[in-house]
Amino acid sequence: MKLFSGSANPVLSQKIADSLGVTLSKAEIVRFENSEIRIHLEENVKNEDCYVIQPTANPSDTHLMELFFFCDALRRQEAKKVFAIIPYFGYARQDVQHRPGECVSANVVIRFLESIGFYKVYVINLHDEATEGVFSIPFKNINAFPILAEEIKKYIGNVSTDTVAVVSPDHGGVERARKFGDELFGHTEHTISVVEKRRDLQHIHISKALDLYGDVKGKTAILVDDMITSGGTLIHAAELCLERGATKVLTAVIHHDFGPEAPSKLQSSAIEKVFTTNTITLKDEQKFDKLVEISVAELVAREIA
Ligand code: R5P
Repeated sequence: MKLFSGSANPVLSQKIADSLGVTLSKAEIVRFENSEIRIHLEENVKNEDCYVIQPTANPSDTHLMELFFFCDALRRQEAKKVFAIIPYFGYARQDVQHRPGECVSANVVIRFLESIGFYKVYVINLHDEATEGVFSIPFKNINAFPILAEEIKKYIGNVSTDTVAVVSPDHGGVERARKFGDELFGHTEHTISVVEKRRDLQHIHISKALDLYGDVKGKTAILVDDMITSGGTLIHAAELCLERGATKVLTAVIHHDFGPEAPSKLQSSAIEKVFTTNTITLKDEQKFDKLVEISVAELVAREIA
């Protein structure tokens, strides 16, 4: 096995390599002054199974191109199979035409991945599981919610349906929240509370929490989501939970795809702790006290070992 890291999250790549007990393979990634990228493999990969680790988060397009070029270089050097490990799958939210006239970017990205010659794609908590059906090559959606649930259980101490309410911050996330609840409570006999979110499709990242269905009174509310960008979804949902009598609000979110103001907004929000993972590089300026980052390295390593 050969494990290559793109430039998007070398720290996670190193952790995955450490978990597997292998050394990261060498490649040169050059970014020219005109913004073009060149990948040059510095190892023999002939007849090897090769994995490329690259979350396609901000700057999404650059990271995607790197991933495509890695695959091209590996195929040209006669790698046996090339696997993409995309811990965060950028463009996943653009999976349908939300308005007439829009592109369906997730579909385009998938067609690129397939035609460039990847044998299999691994992702972590894809935005919508239905997107899996668009792939016509082997695909694995790794679920990182169990490791978030474990960490939150340790933080809260005593977890029961009398003291904890699992909340989806929008209708689209109900199934996701239910699965998280199954992990958290250790059984499926629990209900989910749901926030009615209204998104303004004309303005990116603007949403409102209109109402909350379910009982959060006197409980710790745990908001479950796949990603944070502006933070608006979680911050508004947290305020509503507290208005309806929740004693505190925690969040369990897989990807911190932070917009520029999200860290400071989340730090000064009503949320007590933001539990998330390291699928995306956390820059120094994005760190804040309420953030708890849990590594997915072991999870990925177990999957590909
Ligand atoms: C939406 O469908 C997603 O699951 C997230 O709720 C959303 O992308 C979060 O974005 P923001 O933090 O900008 O509200």
